Amino acid sequence: MYRMGEEEVQELRKVLLSKQLFRVGDPSAGHLGEVEKFEKDWANLIGTKYSLLLSGGGTAALICGLVGVGIGPGDEVLIPSYTFMATASAVLAVGAIPVIVEVDDSCTMDVSDLEKKITPQTKAVIPVHMVGMPANMERICDIAKKYNLKVIEDACQAVGGSFKGKRLGAWGDVGTYSFNFFKIIGCGEGGGLVTNDRIIYERASIFHDSGTAFRPYVGEFTIPIFLGLQFRASEIMGAIMNVQLKRLEGILSDLRRIKRSFIDKLSGKPGIGFARSNDIEGDCGVVVAFRFDTPEKAINFARSEGVNGWRPLDSGKHVWFDWKPVIDKRVGGHPAMNPYNFPQNKNLRKDYTKEMYPKSLDNLGRTVFVSINPDWTEDEINERIKACENAASKL
Ligand SMILES: Cc1ncc(COP(=O)(O)O)c(C=O)c1O
Repeated sequence: MYRMGEEEVQELRKVLLSKQLFRVGDPSAGHLGEVEKFEKDWANLIGTKYSLLLSGGGTAALICGLVGVGIGPGDEVLIPSYTFMATASAVLAVGAIPVIVEVDDSCTMDVSDLEKKITPQTKAVIPVHMVGMPANMERICDIAKKYNLKVIEDACQAVGGSFKGKRLGAWGDVGTYSFNFFKIIGCGEGGGLVTNDRIIYERASIFHDSGTAFRPYVGEFTIPIFLGLQFRASEIMGAIMNVQLKRLEGILSDLRRIKRSFIDKLSGKPGIGFARSNDIEGDCGVVVAFRFDTPEKAINFARSEGVNGWRPLDSGKHVWFDWKPVIDKRVGGHPAMNPYNFPQNKNLRKDYTKEMYPKSLDNLGRTVFVSINPDWTEDEINERIKACENAASKL
């Protein structure tokens, strides 16, 4: 979340004074319908028919998406080696097993490895658009279609981004977003789900709303109600997100302008290279992604004065070998609730070692990200560009 101010305060004030903080309520009694408004506007922006705002974050959105498409025990779900651990934990939360796919030089899912990893047990794929950088959704959707896989996009870190002109999240059967404190727009914690499929929407709605005790926002259901969990958003979240949504295009345009400035001014300079992008126009501009010949050069560049860089390889719970509870298969509150122990998952691929993904180690180890702040002044931008130029020239 880059920007927040008086507008959020004013909207929050209205909601608090209405005393109607639950998402469902009577407009004639002063209910403001903030969550419902956000869901409509979000679906419109992404270009899908349906949307849900959820408490429980992007993790809840992924879980509801997986429930929506019917994933469960006995199923393998393909996820990239570079993503926050929550992508894996969502798969495990529905009783399925995550199987890891390499990332390529764009730091997103490697499409050739994706195809190699598909078995008859593979039921879904979760491409992740890390640090605002779009995965190759065209190729991923083609492969998914060929093998009859469901596609759940994890756009938690790429809210508002696009691939080939179509918003991220609108390519798959389901799109998911995080509105937590660290994301492009947010309300502290929160998540979003979009889909064009009525049944997926109904299943996700039912699951996120305690078996849908409170469902007027969905309209009539066409499927039987089943028991779910409770990830409903409050009007407080809705009010903040409605203001944040108005800020989104401005934030993206500033991030992209600054990223473009780094690329234009540094291209061709000694020692400088950039990571490949699947679609630089759709990239959110969260980071400038540099690429070096060796991991040593990447480390030295990241540590150079004024650069403030970081290698994705060193970003903790965002790299598969650092998902400690997953690697150790410690999941859930009871051994019998741990999907790694489920009889249906007995013959699935459940082992993950560091050595299994050499391409990811190579790509993530030679990449350096420099985070962008959309509110940098021209002087601040130029100072940072200069620092990167100096650092690269000395490698
Ligand atoms: C790629 C990715 N997926 C999923 C999540 C989970 O989102 P949340 O923390 O909102 O549950 C995150 C959050 O950091 C993320 O970065």
